[in-house]
Amino acid sequence: MTINHIAVIGAGTMGNGIAHICALAGHDVTLIDVNQDRLDQGLATIEKNLARQVSKEKITEAEQVETLARITCATDLSADTAEADLVIEAATENPTIKAEIFRALDKATKPDAILASNTSSISITQIAADTERPAQVIGMHFFNPVPVMKLVEIVRGLETSDQTFQTIYDLSEKLGKTPVEVNDYAGFVSNRILMPMINEAIYCVMEGVAEPKDIDTVMQLGMAHPMGPLTLADFIGLDVCLSIMEVLHRELGDSKYRPCPLLRKMVVAGRLGRKSGRGFYDYSQS
Ligand code: 3HC
Repeated sequence: MTINHIAVIGAGTMGNGIAHICALAGHDVTLIDVNQDRLDQGLATIEKNLARQVSKEKITEAEQVETLARITCATDLSADTAEADLVIEAATENPTIKAEIFRALDKATKPDAILASNTSSISITQIAADTERPAQVIGMHFFNPVPVMKLVEIVRGLETSDQTFQTIYDLSEKLGKTPVEVNDYAGFVSNRILMPMINEAIYCVMEGVAEPKDIDTVMQLGMAHPMGPLTLADFIGLDVCLSIMEVLHRELGDSKYRPCPLLRKMVVAGRLGRKSGRGFYDYSQS
């Protein structure tokens, strides 16, 4: 199947990044969000990140202009996905909201359209079961910042067809990414490995093994990670980290996935990382 028109649901960090790379690769993109302010902010972020790519000579000014011209913003999920060959959902990580979105998309889109989710932890098999087209439902898990990170985890639900998988695999390569095939288990590969590492770093803080900046330095200089685990946790959002640990703990049933009590405490206190101005570090001045 040929993918021309792509609709992206959700204009937040992941959604605007996905719209950015799809439009840059030559696709017509409709960026959809129920909230007009979030759409405006999402488009402004795309403009800023394209300008950054021009200043780094990664793309030309002509490509910047053409990319922006391919993006249309919209607020009506039902009306504005009718022409899409592929919908990539990057809405909030809430199973009830995702189920509603996929039921609506199933009614609104062309019968042969593929429905993908950027979920980081919700079961693709479950999302697919809410539609009448489970063979055409798949996970496309991107990484933040989307224009920079090379990986896409392509998650096969139990019913995902080989044709759907191949179409999405080929598209991911066209988007300049390296696709990796994974099966539908909690956290897939990325978050099954990443989140317990972050959780363990938080245990190190809680138990006073070392200060946050020293824990980060150990992993940056000793293991060549671009960001230490606590800086990365702040970057991802501590609420997101907690919710993924809870999914791993619940779905895999092993106590090794229990969320660190300090992580829970910080989320309850509203210390969510960069987005709230404070997490393991203070961002109030940045
Ligand atoms: N859009 C476009 N380009 C961007 C960008 C953005 N949003 N953010 C950074 N860049 C570019 C910069 O222009 C720069 O380009 P250059 O190499 O050509 O000069 C390059 O990326 C590096 O950026 P900076 O020099 O500003 O900063 P750093 O060198 O500190 O890199 C980083 C920033 C790329 C974020 C790096 O710190 C990094 O790789 N961190 C780890 C990120 C990570 O692990 N992400 C995955 C999170 S997990 C996830 O998303 C899954 C979810 O399910 C939880």
